[in-house]
Amino acid sequence: MIKKVGVIGAGSMGSAIAEVFAYNGLDVILKDQNMELTEKGMKNIKRILSDFEKYLKERPIKEIGRIEKLGIALTEEQKNLIVKNMGSTIDQDSIIGRIKPSDNYNDLKDCDLVIEAIFEDQSIKNKLFEELSEILPDNTIVASNTSSLSITEMAAHYKKPENVIITHFFNPPYTLPLVEIVPALQTADSTITAVFEFFSALRNHREKLVPVKVKERTGFVVNRILIPMINEAMKIVDEGIADIKTVDIAMKKGAGMPMGPFELADYVGVDIVYHVLRSFREAFGDNYIAPETLKYMISAGWWGIKKGRGFYNYKK
Ligand SMILES: NC(=O)c1ccc[n+]([C@@H]2O[C@H](COP(=O)([O-])OP(=O)(O)OC[C@H]3O[C@@H](n4cnc5c(N)ncnc54)[C@H](O)[C@@H]3O)[C@@H](O)[C@H]2O)c1
Repeated sequence: MIKKVGVIGAGSMGSAIAEVFAYNGLDVILKDQNMELTEKGMKNIKRILSDFEKYLKERPIKEIGRIEKLGIALTEEQKNLIVKNMGSTIDQDSIIGRIKPSDNYNDLKDCDLVIEAIFEDQSIKNKLFEELSEILPDNTIVASNTSSLSITEMAAHYKKPENVIITHFFNPPYTLPLVEIVPALQTADSTITAVFEFFSALRNHREKLVPVKVKERTGFVVNRILIPMINEAMKIVDEGIADIKTVDIAMKKGAGMPMGPFELADYVGVDIVYHVLRSFREAFGDNYIAPETLKYMISAGWWGIKKGRGFYNYKK
């Protein structure tokens, strides 16, 4: 039974994943390389929670506005009823209070599940699994949030490879419920079952989490489809067929996508798109060569929303 969770890496994914666990009432240890980085993650969690509370407060007011826009006049009593039935709130302090910021591996000792969300680099992750072998008890399940690296290789660096698995969240996990569950070759059935049971009982800010089992193959399901689409969008711009904004409008208005490929790339992180494309090229061949522009964007630090600049400029 998973009751206490550790998250290693308090970056954009790690901090948001920790928030989802704490939102579900679980005790969480959030660890980064030093306290300054962990506190940065805690700050992100506070922002996520205050945005969520604002959204919850505004929801009934927006609903009243929507109904009145239809020409339906509501009485004060009806408005109060909408506020009463739709209005909800969260206890930010107790959610935050369940997350213990840390820079010390020893704090993870009594966690039933530890998820790593550190840099997307196979050797750094392998080293982490070796370090965790020294610290974690034999029954801890160790998961990776990797988007493109080999879990079989990470498992080979852990003392109990049968306890190792990928739990791949999507950005942001507090609104996107999918979790791709990817066993390594060595993963025990009991680990898969425990992880499935655990995630099936959790919810994010909107709905229940949706774990799906996927085989270990580059890109799994979602990225295998999304990343080539973003690559194709970049090629279209390079060939002068349309500009960035037009491509985004086309895919939103013609294909019903909620975000265009470039908006999505900025959201996911241009650096992540670049790294995933490199692993796609290795796995699937030259169709996945990224346009050169992407390389220069990486050098310039135009990594998307997190850096204030990607395909679009977010600096006001
Ligand atoms: N960003 C996304 O949209 C997304 C989506 C799904 C999966 N992922 C995956 O999640 C992981 C993290 O991605 P991110 O976007 O949050 O990265 P990020 O760069 O925002 O955060 C990574 C964090 O890990 C920390 N870190 C690095 N090495 C560490 C170590 N040895 N011990 C403790 N902390 C360490 C860094 O200091 C940093 O704070 C990657 O594997 C990535 O592929 C990312």
